[in-house]
Amino acid sequence: MGRTCPRVLLFDSGIGGLSIADSIRRRLPQADLVYAGDNAGFPYGDLLEHEVVMRCVMLVEEALGRWPCDLVVVACNTASTVVLPALRTRLSIPVVGVVPAIKPAAALSRTRRLGVLATPATVDRPYLASLIDEYAADCTVLRLGSSELVCLAEEGVAESQVDEERVSAILQPLALGKPDTVVLGCTHFPLIRESLARAMPGVSYWVDSGDAIARRVVQLLAEAASEGAGTGQGVSTFLFTADSPAGIARWLGGNNIAARALSPQISRVSLNIARNSSIGSAGLWQQ
Ligand code: DGL
Repeated sequence: MGRTCPRVLLFDSGIGGLSIADSIRRRLPQADLVYAGDNAGFPYGDLLEHEVVMRCVMLVEEALGRWPCDLVVVACNTASTVVLPALRTRLSIPVVGVVPAIKPAAALSRTRRLGVLATPATVDRPYLASLIDEYAADCTVLRLGSSELVCLAEEGVAESQVDEERVSAILQPLALGKPDTVVLGCTHFPLIRESLARAMPGVSYWVDSGDAIARRVVQLLAEAASEGAGTGQGVSTFLFTADSPAGIARWLGGNNIAARALSPQISRVSLNIARNSSIGSAGLWQQ
């Protein structure tokens, strides 16, 4: 029968996963989406592996305790490199991770020079190295990890403009390597794609994982045997473990398709992540 009224939980360290929510919303306008941003732990690219695993597991369990969902999307490349086994052991629903799009990028590149733009953690982890060995062994792969670029993406949303001078400076080492195709290996980066493209005009293809993740979500939900936990009305709920990011309401109202089906009303409640006081109480946005 498939889930006709699914509810999907997505999470990230901040607002980057909204790029994935956007792709899912395009394919599943009727799905309810619960978006959890662990902005108290941001940026994940600078945390140790066990810290990321602990925070993600706690956040997901807390969110699912309040909003039962049919599927979880780890809408963060950095978290996906380390947390999937722990989540899959604990949960009885499917867990989908984000994989840097090395395979499609290698298929597109004509010059066989690929760039990978991600967090410092993602570029260093064996997970990325094994993807490159498997799918891009004949390519020269230039990797750039930058938490500053992640912060610039968050600021770009808060301030409605991106500091393009800083973006160009950060990308310079990658631009010097002249890749024709660049993988956006962090979910924050599709949010500033235009600024990235202006900084590296020689790049023919910017490749992200959003639509591939959305297709996988659709497939898994279609294989399920019951209706689902959602309302069938495309409700979206936003949770943050610290103050809601500045400018997010304006940005969701204007730019992000994940917000389209929402009523304009925004409310806040407190969310306790009881087992670890360092996470504390979280601000919740519900629209
Ligand atoms: N959006 C995240 C990713 O895809 C992480 C950014 C961060 O918190 O460092 O990796």
